[in-house]
Amino acid sequence: MSSRITKAVIPAAGLGTRFLPATKAIPKEMLPVVDRPAIQYVVEEAVEAGLSDVLMITGRNKTTLENHFDRVAEIEALLEARGETEKLDRVRAATNLADVHYLRQGDPLGLGHAVLRAHQHVGDEAFAVLLGDDIMAGGGSLLSRMIEVHEATGASVVALQEVDPAMISSYGVAAYDASSSVEDGVPGAGPDTIQITGLVEKPALEDAPSNYAVIGRYLLRPEVFGVLEQTKPGAGGEIQLTDALQVLAANREELGGVVGVVYRERRFDTGNKLDYIKAIVELAVDDPKLGPALGPWLKQFAASIAE
Ligand code: G1P
Repeated sequence: MSSRITKAVIPAAGLGTRFLPATKAIPKEMLPVVDRPAIQYVVEEAVEAGLSDVLMITGRNKTTLENHFDRVAEIEALLEARGETEKLDRVRAATNLADVHYLRQGDPLGLGHAVLRAHQHVGDEAFAVLLGDDIMAGGGSLLSRMIEVHEATGASVVALQEVDPAMISSYGVAAYDASSSVEDGVPGAGPDTIQITGLVEKPALEDAPSNYAVIGRYLLRPEVFGVLEQTKPGAGGEIQLTDALQVLAANREELGGVVGVVYRERRFDTGNKLDYIKAIVELAVDDPKLGPALGPWLKQFAASIAE
């Protein structure tokens, strides 16, 4: 039904205004999370799911991103001469990870517009979109599952997570066909999948069709490009990917429909300051080298601020 998926698109043109002044001269994707820039986790995730052709849609401040995934001969030579092989391996890992391509978005007209810019590179194939703000605890397992569901159903696939109603208006939200239970899933797609019947970008709580929010992972059929070309600016005056997905979901016969995969593992949001700090702490506690020292210190620190 579909050819093997090899391409991932990572929109990375945002201005990162929530992190100013840290993001005055570097893109927010380059802010470190423990020991790597956030964007490296996302590229690693794509590669773990078998997608090693990565297209980043960037903006004006892209130079540091390109440099990060490129060789730095001087650093490598220095580490080699010093025999610092572990550091050398870590430097090289970022370079050898994937075949990374860059394309500028031009006008910042929204996520849908960024994805549309990928058309020429992607061509007439299904492809993945990964948004940089989320880091998935399960690495490539979610994307691999989404690819499986796409192959089984032929549909476009989005990742969903149940979120606290207080947070729902920050997301794209799914309406779904409740005729089969989420646990059993869509016929042919397996457990924890739902047939999406509609999607709304950042609804008010009273208008949200469910508490299933789209988290930043998509597996899209190439028909999305034709739909995006016709998509008018929506929420926030931007061309929204969610609005194009609504058209795919509503036209199951011609456009394949949209299936949601419910993700139940931990997701670290690095999109705002508080969640970014929590992501660093949680990931550092999980880190085999840092965790054993950080955990006890954290407990002591937490006790000291308890009152
Ligand atoms: C974007 C999408 C939204 C999705 C969210 C996931 O919004 O437009 O549908 O739920 O990512 O993080 P943003 O966070 O860029 O405002």
